[in-house]
Amino acid sequence: MNTSQEKCRDAPLIEIRHLSVSVEGKRVLNDLDLYVMQGETIVLFGPNGSGKTSLLKTIMGIPQYRVESGNIIYRGEDIAERSIDERARLGLGLVFQNPPAVRGVRLKDILRICMVKSGDFREERIIESAGKLNFVDFMDRDINLGFSGGEIKRSELLQLLAQNPAFVMFDEPDSGVDLVNINLVGKVINELLEKGIREDRRTKAGLIITHAGHILDYVNADRAYVMLNGSVSCSGNPGDILDDIRTKGYEECVRCRR
Ligand SMILES: Nc1ncnc2c1ncn2[C@@H]1O[C@H](COP(=O)(O)OP(=O)(O)O)[C@@H](O)[C@H]1O
Ligand SMILES: [Mg+2]
Repeated sequence: MNTSQEKCRDAPLIEIRHLSVSVEGKRVLNDLDLYVMQGETIVLFGPNGSGKTSLLKTIMGIPQYRVESGNIIYRGEDIAERSIDERARLGLGLVFQNPPAVRGVRLKDILRICMVKSGDFREERIIESAGKLNFVDFMDRDINLGFSGGEIKRSELLQLLAQNPAFVMFDEPDSGVDLVNINLVGKVINELLEKGIREDRRTKAGLIITHAGHILDYVNADRAYVMLNGSVSCSGNPGDILDDIRTKGYEECVRCRR
């Protein structure tokens, strides 16, 4: 590794500083701070309505989420003013919690486009990737149209495999996925985050939202944050925090913050 790459590793891949965001006139994020180092996997816990999805959509650049103040620093550059497609080209990717269906566009068409854009298009790669998620039979279906909750997650993950982003965000990848498929989902997340190689050699990083924590049985996370009312209320070891949430509930997090 050369010196500039080493220097790069000392700085976070992405850093959120004092971020406040509104949507439809409502404040959803308040002075939020977090960072993710290259090679790291971060998990984000929080009760319903605490702003987890809003955070990921803001990082991705969904236009309705208005940055009132603060910075989104990615590879040293503030990207808060950049458009969603520019952010995708810079290497940001998101598995949506509730993505729209796209009538008239087949899943294999969008996979082909993503692969061409990522510079690695091979027709056989489409079937190879779909096989990893037990999803080959869905290639001629319209994107997400009539898909069940678990099928939507696999469809979204497959699109990310094709896109191959460097900073990968997963919004509740475990919700609605049955036991057989959650194993496949976990494997693909591990592949996207290069879990098979040493942390200091990885070029990717991930941020995973989980409500119940099931995905942590399949994917190792390095650190966890808890979000409450649009801010980070604490951070620490994912297993310890999950145990506390399971035994004491989020109310204890509120007390712990006081
Ligand atoms: N597009 C939107 N329009 C209006 N309110 C929204 C929108 N997106 C999020 N919110 C509100 O922001 C709050 C946080 O929502 P969300 O980020 O989805 O929370 P979480 O993912 O933690 O459950 C909720 O009160 C939600 O109703
Ligand atoms: Mg959500």
